[in-house]
Amino acid sequence: MSAGAPGVLFASSELSPWVKTGGLGDVSAALPAALAACGCEVKLLLPAYPALREAFADALVPRARIAPPGGELPGATLLGAPLAAASGASAGARQEPLGPDARRRASPGPSGAGAELLLLDAPELFDRPGNPYLDGSGADHPDNLLRFGLLSRVAALLASPESPLAWRPQILHCNDWQTGLAPAFLHYLHDGRGAASLLTVHNLAFMGLFGQEALAALGLPPQAFRFDGVEFHGRLSFLKAGLQFSDRIATVSPSYAREILTAEFGCGLEGLLRHRADRLAGILNGIDTVDWNPAEDRRIAVRYDANSLARKADNRRDLQQRLGLAPQDGVPLLGVVSRLTGQKGLDLLLALADRLCADGVQIALLGSGEAELQAGWQAVAARHPGRCAVVIGFDETLAHRIEAGADLFVMPSRFEPCGLNQMYSLRYGTPPVVRRTGGLADTVRDADEAQREGAQGNGFVFDAAEPAALGDALARAFAALRDPPRWRAIQRAGMACDFGWEPAARAYLGLMQAALAGPRTRS
Ligand code: ADP
Ligand code: GLC
Repeated sequence: MSAGAPGVLFASSELSPWVKTGGLGDVSAALPAALAACGCEVKLLLPAYPALREAFADALVPRARIAPPGGELPGATLLGAPLAAASGASAGARQEPLGPDARRRASPGPSGAGAELLLLDAPELFDRPGNPYLDGSGADHPDNLLRFGLLSRVAALLASPESPLAWRPQILHCNDWQTGLAPAFLHYLHDGRGAASLLTVHNLAFMGLFGQEALAALGLPPQAFRFDGVEFHGRLSFLKAGLQFSDRIATVSPSYAREILTAEFGCGLEGLLRHRADRLAGILNGIDTVDWNPAEDRRIAVRYDANSLARKADNRRDLQQRLGLAPQDGVPLLGVVSRLTGQKGLDLLLALADRLCADGVQIALLGSGEAELQAGWQAVAARHPGRCAVVIGFDETLAHRIEAGADLFVMPSRFEPCGLNQMYSLRYGTPPVVRRTGGLADTVRDADEAQREGAQGNGFVFDAAEPAALGDALARAFAALRDPPRWRAIQRAGMACDFGWEPAARAYLGLMQAALAGPRTRS
């Protein structure tokens, strides 16, 4: 650990490439490594999901025994392994039924630069199929309260003077609701002694809500159930607890940090967030620029860079062929890779899809999520064979091929705390068409607006969450696509953007140092 760089316990429920349902997995893989590169000693705490146990099997050693911590929370064993020790030998091993997790690649994922992975081994809670939140049938695991209650409880324990480990972090870095209760545990059960806490909100819409009886099951005292405690509209909220008790709050883009102070985006937590606004920072995520690099990407048909963009056409043909799209040049090919939920606004594109396909536009969509959206998209694909290809599932390789092969990438999100795919698509010379919200607004500059100001844009942006507004932005994008020199300039502007993690890690470091220097939250 270098002077001034704090020791960090990073607690999360996902870790790419092994356990991932969305961007949280990517961030949990990249940010701790970037913090380690800034001199922090970092340990990651995750549940001992089967995919992680397997990937680190050769290196895991018992690190501590955790006695049952109270309520209905079971005891557990803490296993440890160097993060760099993931075994490539397990490539291709078990794929979980819901796909997003247990994705593997032959080379180890995050190097972690000396970071240690701590796995919370409580087999009755974590040794089961499914993804971190859902069972094989798509329903919530019935004991998610205890699963993420234990994760939060042990995160607090390891950050407290009562930790069974000799190592003590200066900062406990929690992420989303699944570890959001840890700062409340530190407050109620460790008198606020121990590490300073930082909560990153990746998505305010997931609050970790449970009934009042959860309090006793978690071993929290009855007085915690107050409006200035863990209570939220008559229920217990893990996320609200984290917002209430953490010393600093981060979210994943500057725009989203402003938006969540409003009723439109605040999910009912805007009052508390405004109250704590002096502790809140918006820090834009980076992306894994090694994994997402068209010049080196072994998953795509032909590699290319900003000086060989003509080769992108080979990836387009490859994508068309693989997905059964007509092998046509000269028609726009729209790409989508997304969770299919209301957040992502793909119903707006769905409303336009028949007309677009009738006009000859091609659509390649990869995603999974809400049954109604899946069915809606599958029906479009059935109506327009050769024009619209829909793959329901989670497929890392296809995600890369869509980024490389599409002409435009569509992200009409209603809200988007950061968004990673628009940054991937910028890097792949696939200009994104996005709604002006959250991290999309912070990363995509509209090409027409920029042109009017004598500047260079990198994509297309619209405002109203309505099909017509998306339709207008697409029409503007199609016009630009018909003007090759202009199109190249837009592509190259996106490819020149630097979305590496270092600036984010430095900003987090600043926030951590402020947390350590400033007054603590109700300690
Ligand atoms: P969110 O976390 O809200 O889903 P992000 O854009 O931050 O959105 O991150 C989503 C991540 O998950 C990206 O890495 C994206 O490529 C990946 N992803 C989402 N859906 C799929 C899918 N069906 N197949 C492969 N990767 C996917
Ligand atoms: C969430 C958000 C997404 C963000 C990701 C990583 O899942 O929905 O916008 O990029 O977290 O921070």
